[in-house]
Amino acid sequence: MASTEYHEPVLLHEAVRSLITREDGLFVDGTLGGGGHCKLILSKLGRNGRVFGIDHDEEAWEYASSVIGDDPRFTFIRGNFGHMEQLLPLDTHGKIDGILLDLGVSSHQIDEPERGFMFREDAPLDMRMSTLFGTTAFDVVNYHTEQQLKRIFKLYGEERNSSRIAREIVGKRPLETTGELRQVIAGVTPERHRNKTLARIFQAIRIEVNRELEMLGRFFDKAPELVAEGGRLVVISYHSLEDRLTKNFMRAGNAEGKPEKDFYGNTIRPWKPVSNKPVIPDDKEISRNPRARSAKMRVAERTGVTA
Ligand SMILES: C[S@@+](CC[C@H](N)C(=O)[O-])C[C@H]1O[C@@H](n2cnc3c(N)ncnc32)[C@H](O)[C@@H]1O
Repeated sequence: MASTEYHEPVLLHEAVRSLITREDGLFVDGTLGGGGHCKLILSKLGRNGRVFGIDHDEEAWEYASSVIGDDPRFTFIRGNFGHMEQLLPLDTHGKIDGILLDLGVSSHQIDEPERGFMFREDAPLDMRMSTLFGTTAFDVVNYHTEQQLKRIFKLYGEERNSSRIAREIVGKRPLETTGELRQVIAGVTPERHRNKTLARIFQAIRIEVNRELEMLGRFFDKAPELVAEGGRLVVISYHSLEDRLTKNFMRAGNAEGKPEKDFYGNTIRPWKPVSNKPVIPDDKEISRNPRARSAKMRVAERTGVTA
């Protein structure tokens, strides 16, 4: 399988150019996936450069290791980037020159029908990016309360018809497969909105199952302890909630986006955004790789200010 068959890297050159400020530096790819970004990072580093590649999905490692090959500068760690400070060796803390996060699921994960990410396929309700997670889509769909379902559909899916869909799901439980879930949603959605609604509800369940925003927030809380002054954070996100969280942390060091002040009244800003506007893929990239269309990349530099 060629690299692009597993996952075509998004904003590949832009991300790697923004990340690397020192060719003998220490870097972390927190979402290794098919290893596309990581391979380019390694190709730009010198002999003393070093890269840790993290992914919670064991299949990512199996594939990425064949792409990266036997490179003594590279180390794979299986785990969740939300726990990065526990995954990385202690002697790297405060010394990292750049961390890349290319969020969400890989094409390989989406395209494997049995993992249950696609509403067009009929598969068990799973949607876990990693077997390290205990909760599956089955648990969310069958055991969340109506209120909980409504909340995640509204918040993570930005779905207007959240109440109706949540009520319908609760009334039709137990639901075992993506096909059964699709039928229930389709039954209360006008045909002209159906595909978009299905995509939004499946996205919301996926975010809940993989605790995507919680892990991203946790990562941002700890990142100032890991990155050296002048080091970079490069984050590629694919929906508005991730992008807002990224923007707020990069501007203000917290999820709310409101800078805090220290005892002396100085503003605490652990990061300085490299630009205020996100970088987005151009038309050429989107026509080659439609999955890139919602991508937004933000870059920030560590200021050295500590809370
Ligand atoms: C969009 S793909 C990354 C693709 C990669 N940049 C490449 O060039 O192939 C996202 C990857 O990150 C992993 N991932 C997503 N959230 C994660 C998390 N919280 N911790 C660890 N890995 C995560 C997924 O399993 C998936 O393999």
